[in-house]
Amino acid sequence: MKHLLKLLDLSTEEIISILDLADQLKYELKHGIPHPLLKGKSLGMIFQKSSTRTRVSFETGIFQLGGQGLFLSSRDLQIGRGEPVQDTARVLSRYLDGIMIRTFEQKEVEDLAQYGSIPVINGLTDFCHPCQVLADLMTIREKYGVLEGLKLCYIGDGDNMANSLIVGGLKTGMKVAVATPAGYKPDASVLSFAEGYKDFVLTENPEEAAADADVVITDTWASMGVEDEKEARKKAFAGYQVNDALMKFAKADAMVQHCLPAYRGQEITEEVFEAHADEIFEEAENRLHAQKAVMVQLMQ
Ligand code: CP
Ligand code: NVA
Repeated sequence: MKHLLKLLDLSTEEIISILDLADQLKYELKHGIPHPLLKGKSLGMIFQKSSTRTRVSFETGIFQLGGQGLFLSSRDLQIGRGEPVQDTARVLSRYLDGIMIRTFEQKEVEDLAQYGSIPVINGLTDFCHPCQVLADLMTIREKYGVLEGLKLCYIGDGDNMANSLIVGGLKTGMKVAVATPAGYKPDASVLSFAEGYKDFVLTENPEEAAADADVVITDTWASMGVEDEKEARKKAFAGYQVNDALMKFAKADAMVQHCLPAYRGQEITEEVFEAHADEIFEEAENRLHAQKAVMVQLMQ
């Protein structure tokens, strides 16, 4: 593995080995065992969109590994004034040991990897959110001990989270059921990947997707970049809320995951969110451990 651009590029074994290392690094952190595996290394963190979790977990994570993180806002970088990504990639490769980037177009991340000579980590694009889904898989495996055979259901927008959950879930042997309204389906490339799996269901019916699910996942109805569609989306997604009535279709002890930020009263009710808050904040914590594992595997 040279980069983490999207989960479609990773084998099942590569995903599992990240999860195993993440578990180990979490254990070591909790037990005060130092792990300076990236001593003296620098990670550049380019942000073209807002972030709480990704920024803080990457910056703290590289520090815990003995390295340093550089927060690079596109408002300050020349990239924000039109310097081509090809040139940015070649320059940053001469200073840094790795780049994390959060941006709009997936192509920008792929270009950074193509023109640079250091590992590139996708910290979210419009297309996918691989770091988040690695943390989700880690959290689900912590609860159930396995991933294979579990049913993951995703309700809501066919966005970056839906795309990565479908790929990550199927590659690790989970059954994946997705309910989105017509017009908000996951990306065509992801659907064509999923077609090869008999345990994949795409429906417009949330109850069908939630039936007997072990894990129920949702995400905002209006991702970063489409905020101006907020009102239209509220109407389109009205029947796609994770609430107590929908949870009755899932298994009695089903867990709930949400990448956050959560919009209570929209994609999830206050009741369901608070009933599953421990699982949701464990998921947020696991961003730190999963990303440390990714950095070690790519940058060591
Ligand atoms: N879940 C997630 O990526 O959060 P941030 O946008 O705060 O980084
Ligand atoms: N789908 C959301 C995820 C935020 C972490 C977005 O792209 O805004």
